[in-house]
Amino acid sequence: MTVTIEIAVPASHESANYPIWIGADLLPSLEQRLPLERYSNVTILTDTNVAPRWLASLQHGKLASAKACVIPAGEEHKNLNALQTVWEHLHNTGCDRRSLLLNLGGGVIGDLGGFAASTYMRGIDFVQLPTTLLSQVDASVGGKVGCNFNEVKNLLGAFNQPQAVCIDTNTLKTLPPRELRSGWAEVIKHGLIRDTSYLRLLAENSKEESQSSAWLARVIERSCRLKAEVVTLDEREGGLRKILNFGHTVGHAIESLSHQGDAPYLHGEAVALGMVAEAEISRLQGYISEDDVVELEQLLTDYQLPVRLKASLPWESLQSKMLTDKKNVGGSLRWTLLQKVGQAVFDVEVEESLVKSAVTRLSQASHGEEIPR
Ligand code: GLY
Repeated sequence: MTVTIEIAVPASHESANYPIWIGADLLPSLEQRLPLERYSNVTILTDTNVAPRWLASLQHGKLASAKACVIPAGEEHKNLNALQTVWEHLHNTGCDRRSLLLNLGGGVIGDLGGFAASTYMRGIDFVQLPTTLLSQVDASVGGKVGCNFNEVKNLLGAFNQPQAVCIDTNTLKTLPPRELRSGWAEVIKHGLIRDTSYLRLLAENSKEESQSSAWLARVIERSCRLKAEVVTLDEREGGLRKILNFGHTVGHAIESLSHQGDAPYLHGEAVALGMVAEAEISRLQGYISEDDVVELEQLLTDYQLPVRLKASLPWESLQSKMLTDKKNVGGSLRWTLLQKVGQAVFDVEVEESLVKSAVTRLSQASHGEEIPR
């Protein structure tokens, strides 16, 4: 069964609505869903991890002649070099304004491919084919495209909506377990910022079912509905959409800093740590209770996500990375916090001393754990 969610983005233009298709076995039949007669040619952008597993399922029938552009896998390749490779490929293979780009992969491919498509010849159509849980529930939906620059996450980018998002849930069967776990952080974020009944459902199903296909499909649909609703209300992040950044101010800083060492965090792992820190800021602001933060830590732990840093990070490094956050205004940090569990607020200004104190939680012993000596 295929579920279709319509996403409406009035800020772009009236006809900019597009479908999100969710189901098993959707990649092999994609050629029948897309209006390929409209395009002069099709390019598939993918990476060295995804190509051996999923490229062939796409490249047949009407898509047999689609050319593949395969770039190295990993967040460290979400940069201008990779972008140049994609632009060169589009140019060298004769792509024109009526070319279509299919982005087959995780968040890096979707963001980078979306940005390449948005800038090549002032913009060609693209379709997102996310293959990781993280990109299926979050990154592929809503039209944020871009790349990292000067060691800052997504410093360059644009809002540009795809023609469609096609989520083949079979791709999760070949996803490394660590990547799958990373995706749960964004799912948990959705419950925390807007939907307590979703959060309860996630807590009830954390252990037994977290790998079953039916459960994963249910979660993807619910998260995509929530995200589509937020993006429909505020495509360009003038206000409400900022709630989706909960956990990301500290999370992005931790993620970027970890890439300077030899044991980088995956995006979802860094967001899990960021959510603990930002829940703690919410507590110190007087919004939520210690029990709420402990419950969040328990939920993240149940989904095998980190709630404490592997190694401590100097406050100065963290602070200077956080100052590069796109939500900041005039050099001062603006926070998305939890006013209560299930309800986020945005643009909150917080005393620096409070933030500094909150992030120490990430280096303390977890609830019920002995403090290491
Ligand atoms: N990932 C946050 C957003 O799409 O707004």
